Amino acid sequence: MAGGNDKPFTIEVSARIKRLPPYLFSRINALKAAKRHAGHDVIDLGMGNPIDPSPDFVIDKLSEAAHDPRNHRYSVSIGLYNLRREVARKYKRRYGVDLDPETEIVATIGSKEGFSHLMLALLGAGDTVVVGDPAYPIHVYAVALAGGNVISVPLGNDEAFLQRIEHVLKNLFPRPKLLILNFPHNPSAMTVDPLFYQQTVALAKKYGVLVISDFAYGETCFDGYQAPSFLAIPGGKDVGVEFSTMSKPYNMAGWRVGFCCGNSEMVRALSTIKGYYDYGHFAPIQIAGILALRNGDDFVRRQAEIYQKRRDVLISGLRKIGWEVESPRASMFVWARVSDKHLAGQGTIDFSLRLLDEADVAVAPGRGFGDNGEGFVRIAMVENELRIKQALRQMDAYLNGKKKIQRPTKLGTGANATTAPDSSGAAHTEYSVEHDQSNIIGG
Ligand SMILES: Cc1ncc(COP(=O)(O)O)c(C=O)c1O
Repeated sequence: MAGGNDKPFTIEVSARIKRLPPYLFSRINALKAAKRHAGHDVIDLGMGNPIDPSPDFVIDKLSEAAHDPRNHRYSVSIGLYNLRREVARKYKRRYGVDLDPETEIVATIGSKEGFSHLMLALLGAGDTVVVGDPAYPIHVYAVALAGGNVISVPLGNDEAFLQRIEHVLKNLFPRPKLLILNFPHNPSAMTVDPLFYQQTVALAKKYGVLVISDFAYGETCFDGYQAPSFLAIPGGKDVGVEFSTMSKPYNMAGWRVGFCCGNSEMVRALSTIKGYYDYGHFAPIQIAGILALRNGDDFVRRQAEIYQKRRDVLISGLRKIGWEVESPRASMFVWARVSDKHLAGQGTIDFSLRLLDEADVAVAPGRGFGDNGEGFVRIAMVENELRIKQALRQMDAYLNGKKKIQRPTKLGTGANATTAPDSSGAAHTEYSVEHDQSNIIGG
């Protein structure tokens, strides 16, 4: 070896990376990839990655703006002023909220990036954050990466949930610094009404805790329900910020455009970090984004209607299969309790592996979102109605033994993967940088 030193060359990653909790989706992602590689038509309802196209008029604007060389330079990390102004207009139009584009709005490279960097901007080693369980995993990972600690509280959308949070705020020392909320919720699709946020603001003021509202599904609502914005509650802006995104309502997930709005000190902290780390989006994306925000209300409404129809198909099919499922009034997900008969004594990670292997249908196991997710699977409404019906037929055939499914090849997942109860500790303790975690937990 060079230099005559025959010690193996090792790469020591940071303690920060090693603090990441186990990545519970890696076996499912690996099996899904292997099945596809072998030619199986996997119906993927695990990923929350919209399949429907972005609006044509937005794509046209992107293309036009991309031809202008003035747009090829570095942009600004906080987002073009006109983009932030358009966000302010939309908040006013939709929620009656006044926002100052200069001080109360920052554009982010998707809300996930913004959220993660806000954690870095607000947290130091030893700071504590209260998060519901189950949770969208980045709400836990980003805190860990920023050096903070997570206190998980069983999720709810009512006074009992707020009481559990209050109990923590009252009794934990040092007192938690942040409370993370996410309604409509991923993965559970839980929603809240404005009263819940009024009580949250009172709690935040009483205990001096900051609130982050992740509003990714705020515009994906059904049956006339309109999810409340945290910022529309009097006092909301005093204590917190809200993240919104163009990924879900406009089918623009790959464009990576999100926003952090609200409390000017928190927005400033995030803008400062971003000023060091990035130069903002490619300007044509921002210009197209302005047009989407300005003229896309009908598109957003129609897209929500598409999800609502898929929801109806999915809910009635799952009930026929024998599962007791609640029909969600928002989000892209159905959060379904798997019947005991079909779980057959397994945890949801092994159940989901089995379902993928035997029925060619991918769902996200609830256990991957926290201990309280066990017993549930998250089914994303990201395929069209026909494909969802096909997935339901395949699930029914496999789970209820209605008929044999014809598939081109059979891939074994190994006795351990298909028959053993969940071994979600040691078997999954690797942190996983090579997996694109957003693939299954995103959305
Ligand atoms: C609750 C929640 N927040 C944030 C995100 C990330 O959205 P974005 O594409 O804006 O980063 C998602 C989806 O992936 C999500 O489900």
